[in-house]
Amino acid sequence: MNTARTVAEVRAAVRAARAAGKTVGFVPTMGAFHAGHLSLMRRARERSGFVVVSLFVNPAQFNDPSDLAAYPRDERADAAMAGAEGVDLLFAPEAAELYAPGHATTVIVRGLSDVLEGAARGAAHFHGVTTIVAKLFNVVQPDVAFFGQKDAQQALIVRRMARDLDFPLAIEVRPTVREADGLAMSSRNVRLTGHDRRRALALRAGLTAAERAIAAGERDGARIAEAAAATMRERGVAPEYFALVSADTLEPVDPLAGRILVAVAAPVGPVRLIDNVIVDLTA
Ligand code: PAF
Repeated sequence: MNTARTVAEVRAAVRAARAAGKTVGFVPTMGAFHAGHLSLMRRARERSGFVVVSLFVNPAQFNDPSDLAAYPRDERADAAMAGAEGVDLLFAPEAAELYAPGHATTVIVRGLSDVLEGAARGAAHFHGVTTIVAKLFNVVQPDVAFFGQKDAQQALIVRRMARDLDFPLAIEVRPTVREADGLAMSSRNVRLTGHDRRRALALRAGLTAAERAIAAGERDGARIAEAAAATMRERGVAPEYFALVSADTLEPVDPLAGRILVAVAAPVGPVRLIDNVIVDLTA
């Protein structure tokens, strides 16, 4: 596996791969790889002749400077893991390579960016995500880009951006990878220890409570959210939000119908965790 630091190096490597008749798969990341990232790389390897992974902790999407400072970084370990998955090129630029002095352009997906995570963290979070992902799509020019369902809202927003801006690529969203006890894999999990690690299971418990209530026939989203939040509080975690919305538009649906995204965010010890499930009521 080669490591590129510049846009020019990536473009040259991708040009050579295309000249050799290969398709290009792309996994954008902020590093601190876990099994979720590796499953995206494995899928990219299956589907593409040339696999590019970007590793860039994007300052523009952090609303909290202390979260940015504490974000885990270990490029050497990440490179070893990506290499073992058969990744061809790791793009690990310095911030100045992607944000030149005077950088003045922001990509905004209105509406979808303003709710749930956008409301909790500020819409600038997703503006930072869409701007960097658009730039990376332009640099790598992949045939397929891979995202995780754990960041369901991000995946929806990126899909809308790619459609609206006519990026000539497919987006594949892959299932959330979980620890054996159900905790969704996240780079931030390494900062959870002891009691906090156990309390983190409250998010999964809340989602399971909501799934059970829906399976039992409940269709009042507010009632389900309140019961699920109570389940979480019994486990020592207060949700920042617990929402049941359309999985396609992120708008409230009352009574519940169609494809429902059940999404939760909560602070647990030093980190803020998110998780979600989709419940399909279309049948
Ligand atoms: O999901 C992430 O790790 C980031 O939001 C992404 C897509 C790499 C953009 O910085």
